[in-house]
Amino acid sequence: MNEKTVSWQSGSTAFHLGAKMESLKALAKGHHQVMIVDETVLRLHGHRLPRIPVIPVVSNETEKSLETARKIYNQLTDMKADRNTLIWCVGGGITTDIGGFSASTYMRGLPFILVPTTLLGQVDAAIGGKCGVNFKGFKNLVGTFSHPTDVVVDYEFLKTLPEEEFRNGLAEMVKHACIADKTLFERLESLYELPKQLKSRQKEALSLIEQSIPIKINIVVQDEREGGRRKLLNFGHTFGHAIEATTGIPHGHAVSIGMVMAAQLSVELDMLEDTETDRLIRLLSRYNLPVKLPVLPELLQKALWHDKKKNNDLIDMVVLTEIGKAELTPISIQKLKEFLYDLRQYQ
Ligand SMILES: NC(=O)c1ccc[n+]([C@@H]2O[C@H](COP(=O)([O-])OP(=O)(O)OC[C@H]3O[C@@H](n4cnc5c(N)ncnc54)[C@H](O)[C@@H]3O)[C@@H](O)[C@H]2O)c1
Repeated sequence: MNEKTVSWQSGSTAFHLGAKMESLKALAKGHHQVMIVDETVLRLHGHRLPRIPVIPVVSNETEKSLETARKIYNQLTDMKADRNTLIWCVGGGITTDIGGFSASTYMRGLPFILVPTTLLGQVDAAIGGKCGVNFKGFKNLVGTFSHPTDVVVDYEFLKTLPEEEFRNGLAEMVKHACIADKTLFERLESLYELPKQLKSRQKEALSLIEQSIPIKINIVVQDEREGGRRKLLNFGHTFGHAIEATTGIPHGHAVSIGMVMAAQLSVELDMLEDTETDRLIRLLSRYNLPVKLPVLPELLQKALWHDKKKNNDLIDMVVLTEIGKAELTPISIQKLKEFLYDLRQYQ
């Protein structure tokens, strides 16, 4: 097991990488404990989880709501949770987001431990202190910045993860590689059959997760409140969210296409060689992630202009200067319109 403690502006988080759930029960010593857990994970992995009172949650974006948080507060009250109660949040990003949000708001904040059980949760959602719920159709509109005391990354959970969910996580790993780590990109290029290898827990494949996790940690440490550098983690996501909203395709697929579009935009701005875009397309295709827009580019406009990162008629876009290096650049809506129009040539 690899242990690493990270200090934030307030508090710190101990990351337990390659940990075994069973051996970490001591983390909660001296606390009254409650577990908020994804009901699928409870069904598949219940035997490995601590024997403590459980609040099951259904993992879908509609349930990631204030209404679910209210139900959790109700149950915490019934369970007589108090300031000495420690909350375990066990599941994918939906559960760790809503669990972290409920824990960090109940009684002005209870200590909580995140146990991400999806690849996306392990490399992304459980890192960085953003906890939140959706509101009025807007994703993560209501939330807090609150760090867990511990993040437990136990690879055993990945054994039961469906193929589709692996792909969502892989898209985020490719994103990390693109913005900050060329060697991770090269390793991803050289490992064939990665999802299978991750599932069978091959050491080399798992070490890619351990290479990916510090990328987000290092960026967040420099900019916890997303004033600047943390925005680099949005690479592919401005287009990705617009694609998701317009077509309803899964998040990882939308981000994959969004990253290709962001790379093409970087080429258009003379910031990136087009051979780098080709490499990105090859890598994503190898993992069966889509690289082409399933709709006409101009159909994305409405969702794009509604992007919350919009600033007057400028949109902050993350562009690449090479694989492993990214920059934040404000782009005018006019320029983006032209780009979307030109993009037809790639379709
Ligand atoms: N807080 C952040 O910084 C941050 C960052 C990225 C994403 N997110 C959020 O994360 C959410 C997406 O997370 P996700 O992709 O993990 O989705 P998820 O939590 O919905 O999990 C995906 C599916 O996998 C199932 N599942 C979870 N673990 C499993 C396991 N071990 N075996 C079998 N099935 C399992 C779940 O029941 C669900 O059906 C979004 O709501 C997104 O907004 C948050």
